[in-house]
Amino acid sequence: MIAKYSPGLFYCEMVKMEALIRHDTNTYRILDYEAGMHPIGAQLCGSNPKLAGSCAKILEELGFDLIDLNCGCPVDKVTKDNSGSGLLRHPELIGEILSNMIAAVNIPITVKIRAGWDEESINASLITQIAEKAGAKVIFVHGRTRKQGYRGPAIWEHIKNCKEVARDILVFGNGDIVDPESAEQMFAVTGCDGLLLSRGTFGNPWIFEDIYRHFSGEEPIERTPEMIRDVLLEHIECITRYQPKRKSLLDLRRIGSWYLKKADGAKKLKEIVTRSEDLDEAVAKIRAFAEAL
Ligand SMILES: Cc1cc2nc3c(=O)[nH]c(=O)nc-3n(C[C@H](O)[C@H](O)[C@H](O)COP(=O)(O)O)c2cc1C
Repeated sequence: MIAKYSPGLFYCEMVKMEALIRHDTNTYRILDYEAGMHPIGAQLCGSNPKLAGSCAKILEELGFDLIDLNCGCPVDKVTKDNSGSGLLRHPELIGEILSNMIAAVNIPITVKIRAGWDEESINASLITQIAEKAGAKVIFVHGRTRKQGYRGPAIWEHIKNCKEVARDILVFGNGDIVDPESAEQMFAVTGCDGLLLSRGTFGNPWIFEDIYRHFSGEEPIERTPEMIRDVLLEHIECITRYQPKRKSLLDLRRIGSWYLKKADGAKKLKEIVTRSEDLDEAVAKIRAFAEAL
């Protein structure tokens, strides 16, 4: 859905190094993309430098334009072997993994980090320097610590500090960008080179178009309830191509409520979506629903 609105660049969800090496089917499904979606990145999660090069090679052969190393995922299951944000406690290991990835492929390597493991161990600036030395092209800095999870505000000051120590590596700001105004503020506060958005895209895939228009001084596009309904229907169709019906229904309830949150006058439609027990029936009702829009 995001690809429709020209985000500049986007990444598939992270995949575990070990799962990629053993050609796990679900992992390969995560990496599926369509020919028109370039430039597109893949993201590796893992802490074993010995696997990093061969994993990067597999991803390059799958046609990705760049590869990121995840040093941000806060989930216990991931951090317990020092993967994801667990790597923040081993900055030198980040450098070693990145170097092995870079040596194995011809495409750019990037890295995604958080500010640090907790408030007492903020080390994003140090990791920026290590990543730059290893040869990474971009560092995406999420302004929260691992301990914060997704709670509380992202501290943009940490992103600014990374930008101040960076020479060649580009620093992208991440955390709490939800509209064109917060996008503009992120640039102003941190001096960063680019933006990374995540939750701001939920039910709002056109946010990139909104941000670009804002920066080029164009009038914002009004997203009418009819447009939102049509994009939701398209999103459901994408989901059903990848998932069985029961799972698609659960996704429809979740995703539908994101889209319809902002659609004025769509309260009744949201009720239908979130309470539906059958996917086809829910889709038919959304299609037929005219009065509330
Ligand atoms: C459901 C969900 C899945 C995520 N998956 C990934 C992921 O695979 N790789 C990654 O680097 N970050 C992932 N993130 C973190 C986001 O990239 C981002 O750093 C974080 O949500 C803060 O940015 P935001 O305020 O724009 O959401 C995920 C976040 C959420 C909420």
